[in-house]
Amino acid sequence: MKDVPAERCPFCGTPAPLIWVHGHGQCAFCGTNREPCCDGAPDEPLAASLPTLITPRLVLRPILASAEAYLPGYGVWSIEQSDQPGTIVGQVGVTPRIAAGSPEIELSFHIELMARGQGYATEASQAAIEHAVRRLGLAELVAFTDPDHRGPGRVLYRLGFVADGRRLLAEGREHIVWRWRRRS
Ligand SMILES: CC(C)(COP(=O)(O)OP(=O)(O)OC[C@H]1O[C@@H](n2cnc3c(N)ncnc32)[C@H](O)[C@@H]1OP(=O)(O)O)[C@@H](O)C(=O)NCCC(=O)NCCS
Repeated sequence: MKDVPAERCPFCGTPAPLIWVHGHGQCAFCGTNREPCCDGAPDEPLAASLPTLITPRLVLRPILASAEAYLPGYGVWSIEQSDQPGTIVGQVGVTPRIAAGSPEIELSFHIELMARGQGYATEASQAAIEHAVRRLGLAELVAFTDPDHRGPGRVLYRLGFVADGRRLLAEGREHIVWRWRRRS
């Protein structure tokens, strides 16, 4: 995968970066191929582009329905404790969204009540961020938290996110906006 400076996609018009997925140079927002396939690059189904991620204590499995609904390499994983296969303790996602005409890539996470306070949100999110950087070539992520709940903000702060104002989201509630930028 290689990084190419962002320019406006001729298909969707957004200034999304070109990302290289399985040999195709694609618009990071609409997923249209803007550059031809490299020689011999295999075609893979969308779902196959979201890998299982392994962390010291967790296995992150792609939720195929979500992966198919988004772009290759973007989607949502279920979170399992590796010592209890099949027991899902939460979800984490890296998904595109559009805000004021510009694309943003959102990190989101949720941990089941019984599994909280053990560092799982932090550990799973770290793996998702690493995927976003290494596999998708992303340098920025955004996240949103409810101002009434401080826990998710602490997780984001630990991950290196910085609070950057508030925004009224489509669901009608104001949220704190958090931004993460890759250190060069
Ligand atoms: C917010 C939420 C994700 C936290 O999940 P969690 O797994 O309990 O989070 P973590 O365990 O990583 O962090 C919580 C605490 O555990 C502690 N912890 C325990 N073991 C840890 C470890 N090994 N590594 C890191 N932190 C650890 C942390 O210090 C942290 O303490 P603090 O919050 O007082 O700073 C969970 O409450 C949730 O799902 N909320 C609803 C959904 C939501 O708000 N999502 C955010 C929007 S994107």
